[in-house]
Parts: sequence; structure tokens; C-alpha cells
Amino acid sequence: MSLLVGLFDSGLGGLTVLRQVQQRYPHSPCLYLGDTARVPYGTRTVEDIRAIAAEVVHWLREEGVGVLVMACNTSNALALDVAVAEAGVPVVGLIDSVAAVIESDRVGVLATPATAASGAYRRAVHASRPQAQVTEVGCPAFVPLIEAGELHSPALREAARGYLEPLLAAGVDTVVLGCTHYPLLSGLLQELLPPGTMLIDPAIAAVERLGPLLASLGDLPESEQPPLPPPLQQATRLCVTGCPDAFAVAAHPWLGSRPAVERVSLRLAARPA
Ligand code: DGL
Repeated sequence: MSLLVGLFDSGLGGLTVLRQVQQRYPHSPCLYLGDTARVPYGTRTVEDIRAIAAEVVHWLREEGVGVLVMACNTSNALALDVAVAEAGVPVVGLIDSVAAVIESDRVGVLATPATAASGAYRRAVHASRPQAQVTEVGCPAFVPLIEAGELHSPALREAARGYLEPLLAAGVDTVVLGCTHYPLLSGLLQELLPPGTMLIDPAIAAVERLGPLLASLGDLPESEQPPLPPPLQQATRLCVTGCPDAFAVAAHPWLGSRPAVERVSLRLAARPA
């Protein structure tokens, strides 16, 4: 029996992390919670973000996750301690993964306003490169546009141009995608940035750390697992707090097929018996 991997985000963004977990650890069952009733997180107050994280992680714990992957940078930046305390199982963060993969001293970070204001990525980069110049930009328009399916709209392109200005002025050659929604914008960002600019998705390094952790908790390493029966995919349960149909439609292009999605009520689950 493999441990259940829990992931959560405000909406679609964490699916970029889920996809990587699915590809890297096809035997690990996953439980994903998209808190779509409260998206976006990144323009909320710190108190809100911490209270929401406590509620969501409590629910995931009740559902029996054996390990938690923070698929939301905003919660990671402002409520990692809350998640660790509430989870009762090991927690893999995204932001602390970034220090190991940055190889430049001119680093830009695109993130939600809350993550950018927290300075969490600046601290993470400085942990390994204290001399690095880190330019953090909050991008309030991105998540609402992505959630609305406007991946190719002029509004999105215009917003991106504006957010990239400070990074271009600072001459960065490396840009951290500091929100799990943003890997979906990689093509656009790459087009608007100077050729050769390196885009970093912190989830890649974070997901690499998950394997040794799962093995230390008793899971068979992926290389020793028996072949998977068709359709060669592990069990993944997708849950949302908002409209399941809207999420299924929006998630289709991200996941390659239209998934089954359940609506859940976190507040009920969090209430004492
Ligand atoms: N995708 C999340 C993050 O990585 C949350 C974005 C939001 O809801 O504002 O920060």
C-alpha cells in the first residue's frame, strides 16, 4: 500500500505540481483539494491565508494523507508553520527547494502579491547565494485571468508586460515562477523575456525530494514497484470547494482528459463531532 499524497491550492495552479507527482511517482495515490470557493488566495490578508491553510490541512489530514505537498506558494510563504502543525505528517515545501537550483545572482521572482510581500523567495535564494540581487514582483492579475481560462487574452499579455518591466530593468537572467499557476504562462513569459532567460519552476525540485521521503516512510521506491495495470495511472481524487463541473472543464487541458471532480465542505469536516 502506497502512502496517500495530499496536495492543495486555491484552484487550478496546484495541478502543475500534481502532474509532476503523477509523472514521477505513478504508484502513489494522490488527493488534490482546489479551494475554488476562495480563489484567489494571493490578494488576501496574512490572517486569512493562515486560517484557510489550517482548515484545508485539517481536512486533508482527516482524509488520511500520509504526506503533504504544498502546491500553493502563497500558503507555503505565509502558513508553512500552520500546515506543519496541522498536518501531523511530513510536509514538502516548494520555496525551500529553490535554493538548490538557482545558479545566478540576478534573479527575478514572479508571485502573488502576498508571496512577493512576504520576501520568502528572497530569503530562500539568499540562503545559498547571499550576494544575489533578487527582484520580487507581485502579479495580482494573473491568477484571476488563468482561472477564467484567459491564457491567450490580450489582457493577460498586457499584464505580463507590466509585471516583467522591473525584472527587465534589473537585468535578471533567471526568473522563478513563484506561483503554481504560472508554469502555464511559461510560453508567454519566455516570449517576452530576453532569449536565454532561465525559467525556474520550484515544484520540479520539490517533487524530486518527495521520493526519498516516501521511501523513508516505508513506500517501495518507484523503481521496485510492480508494473501498473492499464490505464497506467495511479488513483487520483480531485476535490473542490466550489463548482466541480467548472473545475473539470478548466482542468481538462491541464490533465489531458476531463477528470471526475467532487465538491467537499471543509467547514463541516473541521467542526468538532
Ligand atoms: N497557486 C497559488 C500560489 O502558488 C495561489 C494563487 C492564488 O490563489 O492567488 O500561490
